[in-house]
Amino acid sequence: MFLYEILSCLFYIAVVIADKRDWKSDPKDTKCLTGYMTDVQKWVDKFGTLNAEEDINTSSITISSREGINKLQYEVANFKCTQNRRIRYMSMVNCKLTRVPAVFKWRDRLDRSLADTLVYLTLYGNDFGTLDKAETYDVALNASNTHEININTNMTTYGKQLTLWSVGFQAFTFSNLKELDLRSCSIQALGSHTFQRMPKLRNLYLGENNIHYIETNAFSSLTALRHLDLSRNYAYDENGQQRDMYFESLDILRNLNLESLDLSFTNFGQRNINILKGVERKLKRLSLCYAGLNRIRDDVFYFPSMQYLDVSGNYEILSTPNVFRDLNNSLQILFAENVAMRNMNIFQNLSNLEILKLTNNEIVSIPPHVADSLKKLQILDLDNNRIASWFSDLISYMKNLKLLSLKSNNINLVTREMYYDVENLTYISLSGNFLICNCHARDVYEVGLKNELKQKTTLITELNRRASSPLLFHTGFQYFNDIIRQRSNLTNICKESKKCNSNFSPDVVGNYVFLDTNDLTDMYECLIVTDGVTKSVSEIDSCFKKNREFDMPDEYIRYWNKFLLFIIPGVLFPVLCFVYVFRKNLRYFVITMRNSAMLSLINKKDVYDDGSIFNYDVFVSYCNEDRAWVLDQLLPHVERDCNVSVCLHERDFQVGLSILENIVSCMDRSRSIMLIISKRFLLSQWCQFEMHLAQHRLLETRREDLILILLEEIPRRLRPNTLHYLMLTKTYIVWPKEESEHSLFWRRMKKSLTTHKLKQQDNVSLA
Ligand SMILES: *[C@@H]1O[C@H](CO)[C@@H](O)[C@H](O)[C@H]1NC(C)=O
Ligand SMILES: *[C@@H]1O[C@H](CO)[C@@H](O)[C@H](O)[C@H]1NC(C)=O
Ligand SMILES: *[C@@H]1O[C@H](CO)[C@@H](O)[C@H](O)[C@H]1NC(C)=O
Ligand SMILES: *[C@@H]1O[C@H](CO)[C@@H](O)[C@H](O)[C@H]1NC(C)=O
Ligand SMILES: *[C@@H]1O[C@H](CO)[C@@H](O)[C@H](O)[C@H]1NC(C)=O
Ligand SMILES: *[C@@H]1O[C@H](CO)[C@@H](O)[C@H](O)[C@H]1NC(C)=O
Ligand SMILES: *[C@@H]1O[C@H](CO)[C@@H](O)[C@H](O)[C@H]1NC(C)=O
Repeated sequence: MFLYEILSCLFYIAVVIADKRDWKSDPKDTKCLTGYMTDVQKWVDKFGTLNAEEDINTSSITISSREGINKLQYEVANFKCTQNRRIRYMSMVNCKLTRVPAVFKWRDRLDRSLADTLVYLTLYGNDFGTLDKAETYDVALNASNTHEININTNMTTYGKQLTLWSVGFQAFTFSNLKELDLRSCSIQALGSHTFQRMPKLRNLYLGENNIHYIETNAFSSLTALRHLDLSRNYAYDENGQQRDMYFESLDILRNLNLESLDLSFTNFGQRNINILKGVERKLKRLSLCYAGLNRIRDDVFYFPSMQYLDVSGNYEILSTPNVFRDLNNSLQILFAENVAMRNMNIFQNLSNLEILKLTNNEIVSIPPHVADSLKKLQILDLDNNRIASWFSDLISYMKNLKLLSLKSNNINLVTREMYYDVENLTYISLSGNFLICNCHARDVYEVGLKNELKQKTTLITELNRRASSPLLFHTGFQYFNDIIRQRSNLTNICKESKKCNSNFSPDVVGNYVFLDTNDLTDMYECLIVTDGVTKSVSEIDSCFKKNREFDMPDEYIRYWNKFLLFIIPGVLFPVLCFVYVFRKNLRYFVITMRNSAMLSLINKKDVYDDGSIFNYDVFVSYCNEDRAWVLDQLLPHVERDCNVSVCLHERDFQVGLSILENIVSCMDRSRSIMLIISKRFLLSQWCQFEMHLAQHRLLETRREDLILILLEEIPRRLRPNTLHYLMLTKTYIVWPKEESEHSLFWRRMKKSLTTHKLKQQDNVSLA
């Protein structure tokens, strides 16, 4: 009996735990859509070493210590050069340089200076951040040893001094330099003259520095610049706080022909967002991933060519309604994880979108009109959101969709419509949803398993690949194909259990396999409402089962053992604490669970559906003693006068689902939930349970849409904790004793119902 109670409250606990999910992940572990510098080019590796290709071998010079610089002059002078063969690559990596050395004046045997011949230059890992004025240069490194330089000794401001490291660049014109790698050089500031004499520079890599001060004209002469990488710049003020970038002017990128801008993991600073408005409208690739931004105005992304965009990790950055209005024809891949997004309406009309990654947000549903407009969408990743079950065609609107990931959402019920809706997908993930066992869950599982045994791995590729310029590099498809490749192989698991091949129902339809085969335990467990126990989905009957018995004692025992193994250390202790703390509530819960067992109905029938996500405006929960009030007072006023549709358990419940399934389904299908509270309500264990459930569904799926009606004042000592909490956090309306005040009550009720209705309107307007 004790075990039974523990299992019963597992459901409750799972709901509680689900509320406490931690959304934050370490940004450094997260890769942005735009990848890393080494993904964009091929000549230099992660740590600044030139790649050993023949072309590079024969036209490069490498030094990697400070002493090496002394030999450099000799090497340059003796380089085996010809008219066509010149020093095109140069690597001065980890040389502890604190200034750019004056080496570019050195000439080869054909009297061409390094500044003239270099095309690729890396200075990875030097130290251009020190402000050590007392430092003495050795001869080779004496940057001021050139007549052209005139260091203004009156540059007293902090920022100006910080730009002194680059004086060595200013002495020469780098007439052929195309790519400059200055990663990991502790650079703090970029001066107006730093890149002044590099007319052909195309790609500039400034990642992993501490840049926080950039002068007005720092980039203004770089007319050939296409790719600017300012990613991973962390700067701290004297108090150790991370500081935003300081740009001397917001016109810093104006008139550049940038196609690609990478600000990943850099504290860009909200007030600098207008810098983006100066960028030419040709921008195709932008990463603002974890750039410390929040809400932006809807004219910031005004780039009609933008194909790849990553805005992950910026709080509410996409919460402005028209933020994508200029990207509707171009945007191909969007990563927007962890941006506190609540609905998907802004994605409507993004007709070229192929990948949409929206993990770790608060999205409740996929609106049908949005799904219908995403004609090219191939991959939709909604892990860690609050998506609930759906009851009509939805996924099948997205004709090209191949991969749908819904891990750790709020899907409790696999509906018949869902089962048919996903049939043409290639990959699906459903683990981490607390599923109630039903035959559709079993069938979805069966399809996945059956296909797994016969299908080969198919990777997902771009629909219409455009220009293959490396600047347009992105990790979008690669990211998901890696997940596909890393799936664990179910064949072996099936072999152990010896059941996968023989017991498939021939009638199940579907083309998908599971993407999340690694999360087996989650995937295969579901709650049997009537018994309050969790079972493996494989033990549930298929909807198509025709008097065929599944006989799998071995498997049962195996899964059961596994389950117990997991339960005893991981759950028992929290359960005991839980039982102790909530011993009062738990009693109600256990009893109501039993009630549900007794009440659950037997025969299965199709789920009613009218083609929209929310069939009702409000779900009303009340106890039997208050029935008269609901039917005589509430219904006429609400349904007739406010034009609100009401789901009543006695009238609108679907035959064929258990009571609990019905409540979950009805709550999911109603826009808001109304609790009619009276002292009698509080005495009914069933109503209590509905109240708990309502609270948790609300926490999980919605934020505000609960309406509390108190038919009488409830003194604090009679309020259960749940109710007390709800009364503290939600507005509630009390039914007045005086007849004369009733009209005021209905006015308030109407107001609160219609505001709820309006607020949700966006989500349901069908295309
Ligand atoms: C380039 O040089 C490195 C080391 O000197 C050598 O290992 C490599 O094989 C060379 N690559 C080619 C293509 O010659
Ligand atoms: C650097 O060059 C200047 C000008 O040629 C010279 O006066 C100065 O002594 C040099 N500094 C060092 C440390 O060699
Ligand atoms: C530096 O400032 C001093 C006075 O503050 C002035 O006399 C001198 O001419 C200035 N030098 C330059 C190079 O501007
Ligand atoms: C994209 O938006 C623009 C302006 O709002 C509109 O003119 C254009 O027709 C839209 N394109 C698509 C495919 O919806
Ligand atoms: C999408 O296009 C339709 C029809 O062209 C329009 O009514 C709707 O407002 C657009 N949605 C967005 C979010 O731009
Ligand atoms: C899946 O594809 C088949 C064959 O193209 C089609 O008949 C069926 O309607 C599709 N199912 C859905 C839900 O779109
Ligand atoms: C799984 O493994 C079996 C044999 O171990 C192999 O035949 C099958 O192709 C593998 N499936 C996948 C999807 O890799």
